[in-house]
Amino acid sequence: HGKRGSDPFFNGPLFHLRHCGNPMKSAVILISGRGSNMQALVEAKPGLEWRAVISNRPNAAGLEWAATRGIETRIVDHKAYPSREAFDAALAQAVDSFSPDYLFLAGFMRILTEGFIDRYPRSILNIHPSLLPCFPGLDTHRRAIASGVKLHGATVHFVTPALDHGPILVQAAVPVLDGDTEDSLAGRVLAQEHRIYP
Ligand code: GRF
Repeated sequence: HGKRGSDPFFNGPLFHLRHCGNPMKSAVILISGRGSNMQALVEAKPGLEWRAVISNRPNAAGLEWAATRGIETRIVDHKAYPSREAFDAALAQAVDSFSPDYLFLAGFMRILTEGFIDRYPRSILNIHPSLLPCFPGLDTHRRAIASGVKLHGATVHFVTPALDHGPILVQAAVPVLDGDTEDSLAGRVLAQEHRIYP
């Protein structure tokens, strides 16, 4: 990892040769809670080697599920660090110890610093519960209902320093129905998240 974009090795033929002989890519998943998107990713068996699941919350329910699947788990508790930078440095150290090709954010509820994101160019993906660029940030289902939109959904995108604004890979739309509550809409969107993220 590092600044692949500016390194002639990573752009040269040697890099591609090396990868021809080793097509299996590896990944680490970052979670904060129940981890249903993590489960959807792992269960879809997309031909990735899952090196670890890392949570910033010690009691994230998803950790137990990952462990029962034989995936290594780590906790990097954001509360143990005095600043965002210090937390991100510890997180980067944990991630780098698994040398993954990709990082999947799956319900990971921390804003990452630019310094962290720049370490893994075009390698971090996120699932966001709205049709970006509408409703970046939190409380997307409540805001969708309040705004009166008739379509809502989910987006898989690359992570860049601009929060919830990286290049879009996949989207799925669902209707917002009369009488929808935050919960009913969230459930409809979540079913699509589990479909499009894998
Ligand atoms: C999902 O809706 C995800 O898009 C959002 O938070 C929720 C996490 O759910 N960022 P889970 O932990 O994947 O079950």
